[in-house]
Amino acid sequence: MTLVTKPTDGDTKWFVKDRFGMFIHWGLYALPARHEWVKQTEQIPDDVYDQYFKHFDPDLYDPEMWAQAASNAGMKYFVVTTKHHEGFCLWDSELTDYKCTNTPYGKDLLHPMVDAFRAQDMKVGFYHSLIDWHHPEFPIDALHSQRRNPDIVEINKKRNIKKYAEYLHGQVRELLTGFGKVDIMWFDFSYPDITWITPYVDGIPTLAGKGKDDWQSEKLLKMIRELMPNVILDDRLDLPHGWDIKTPEQYQPREWVTDEGQPVVWEACQTFSGSWGYHRDEASWKSLDQLLHMLIDTVSKGGNLLLNVGPTGRGEFDVRALDRLNGMGEWMQRHNRSIYGCTQAPLEFKAPEDCRLTYNPDTKRLYVHIFAWPFLGFYMDGFADRVEYAQLLNDASEVKFKKVDDSGEHKNTLRLELPVHKPNAAVPVVELFLK
Ligand code: GLC
Repeated sequence: MTLVTKPTDGDTKWFVKDRFGMFIHWGLYALPARHEWVKQTEQIPDDVYDQYFKHFDPDLYDPEMWAQAASNAGMKYFVVTTKHHEGFCLWDSELTDYKCTNTPYGKDLLHPMVDAFRAQDMKVGFYHSLIDWHHPEFPIDALHSQRRNPDIVEINKKRNIKKYAEYLHGQVRELLTGFGKVDIMWFDFSYPDITWITPYVDGIPTLAGKGKDDWQSEKLLKMIRELMPNVILDDRLDLPHGWDIKTPEQYQPREWVTDEGQPVVWEACQTFSGSWGYHRDEASWKSLDQLLHMLIDTVSKGGNLLLNVGPTGRGEFDVRALDRLNGMGEWMQRHNRSIYGCTQAPLEFKAPEDCRLTYNPDTKRLYVHIFAWPFLGFYMDGFADRVEYAQLLNDASEVKFKKVDDSGEHKNTLRLELPVHKPNAAVPVVELFLK
């Protein structure tokens, strides 16, 4: 039996087949190159942060190369930050001057990107920040870059969140009307409950967080569904309904993600190194094996993986990112059959030690991903009468199997024979054709 997920308003049919997408975090923060939250963590005042606006000139930007790199890695869709928390916009929005066309670069970045990824047959997603540390009507709150400004009370008196919400809605309208079909709309994020924020300096009042009333999420949702009924919506608008996907961030869920006890369509978002924006000095880059394990583990629990690249201020994917994308692509070239169209295996199939299972319900094939290469073979309980044929996916070489005698808890067990040496694949996969 396979799990049935909660129905979605957005079209998730393609999404749960495609499984693997590219997140792109790009903005002015590529220049300081020390995390996309740098304005907040270092509490950089607007006039100082302006230097990045004045020097933003990604002269090597080549969206065709980006799209090619994503597609070669086996990714089928992309989600790009149209605006991140810093407030800077990657398109020529009519509602602000704080946009790429007013930087030394002087041109729109988003249209060419959308065109380039579409040309690679990839679906298009927009990440749009609800938070805005630049907009003059966005009241300063506990997360704001100016949260320790002694004049907060006075400043906030002059700020009107309703005007900000109008701006937000207006920009979403631009994004959903100016770029053709948008497949995913990914908002980030709500924080109505701020108790987890560090204590404030003396004399500065407790500042409320922001959520659905601030964003006017109900109204926004209505507009989105009118403009783009089938768009996939993430779950960060602080609404109990209306969203299509859950979005666990920077961790691997233990099992299929649920909401009120029911499995949902979900997508893990992960970074290569910790930061989403380009971070020059970060040393915590994941290995190719870890990244592949992440992708496989996600699909084995019925989810998608959105893996992030933070392009540089020159407009390139840096060599560490390209290195991992190439490695993933090499694996995907021979193993994507165990990812695309696949999901969690029916519950009666238990994964052998050090393995993850995925299953394609259309072809009825089961995929055993072997994370640690065993000695000469492995056992699968409960399988003996289910398998018609087995092969290694990397080279279609036969994997012999035989039923072994039942013993103790091990019933109806198959033993699959493997070579001593691990095949030339980062994660070898055995493909089982079920009867
Ligand atoms: C977060 C962070 C952020 C990143 C995002 C991706 O909530 O604020 O910088 O864009 O998650 O999921």
